[in-house]
Amino acid sequence: MAYPESRPRRLRQSEALRSMVRETWLRPSDFMWPLFVVPGKGVRQPIASMPGQARLSPDLVVEEVRKAWALGVRSVILFGLPEAKDPVGSHAYKKDGPVPLAVRALRDALPELLVATDVCLCEYTDHGHCGVVEKGIVRNDETLELLAKEALTHARAGAQMVAPSDMMDGRVGFIRETLDEEGFEDVVIMAYSAKYASVFYGPFRDAADSAPAFGDRRSYQMDPANHLEAIREVTLDEEEGADIVMVKPAGPYLDIVRAVREHTDLPLAAYQVSGEYAMIHAAAERGWLDLERAMMESLLGIKRAGADIILTYFAPEAAKVLAR
Ligand code: PBG
Repeated sequence: MAYPESRPRRLRQSEALRSMVRETWLRPSDFMWPLFVVPGKGVRQPIASMPGQARLSPDLVVEEVRKAWALGVRSVILFGLPEAKDPVGSHAYKKDGPVPLAVRALRDALPELLVATDVCLCEYTDHGHCGVVEKGIVRNDETLELLAKEALTHARAGAQMVAPSDMMDGRVGFIRETLDEEGFEDVVIMAYSAKYASVFYGPFRDAADSAPAFGDRRSYQMDPANHLEAIREVTLDEEEGADIVMVKPAGPYLDIVRAVREHTDLPLAAYQVSGEYAMIHAAAERGWLDLERAMMESLLGIKRAGADIILTYFAPEAAKVLAR
């Protein structure tokens, strides 16, 4: 039937009707909140390009996450800023580094919280690349061992989930094997499977002080032009034992989120990255967008595209809106 019998506006007349036929709902438990952990006590360093976000020492991480927990946020993912950097990212696998300390403190303070850690070397290497560099080339196989050591350090501290974001080939399988050998067969692997070489990571690299000292990440992160390759990456990570796969960034890659959703029966995460967050804030600061509505609509779009889990810096704020 067509107009005038069919009138889609009939179902849009009131909020009661609209909510009755609404297809997508956000819940606070959809969100995973990324946090930047620094060494020390009582340290809070606001991140200029990410309003409302700060680098925090483990004690303040606990304080902030407690508040987020009260709003309904149920999971966090931790990024570390070490005391020192070197060519092989030695501090990535120090057991008293900021990430293991924060993991322990969070597990003690909030036993029901899901604590995930990002596994990558770029925050820990002096050259800022995600792996070991030899003659200007990021070496794949030599990096796997170090990533597995980092994942193991996080698991030993009590992380229930590790999320490799380095984009080295074979790292999911290698990390799975290492964790299993050490008795951590229950630690979940969330693979950054389709991670693109994106300009939208800009503010994060400020926050994590992880911009590459030379070159860029295009020899390991994916070409933004590619779609089939994302499916190939997801398939490989599934075969290597990933429990959850991820597409990153989210907003500019919603077609990929949808395609991966249709391809895999694993849970799917999407990462609304620092640049997406910064853009919304910047526009809102100028009065060009309504912050709250832009935040909620951007998150809804990611969920509607097919993501089960959304990594977002908006997690506590969005949970607060949903709690009203
Ligand atoms: C580490 C990593 C990055 C992000 C998550 N993990 C930066 C990068 O790859 O350069 C980006 C997150 C964000 O922009 O919010 N490899």
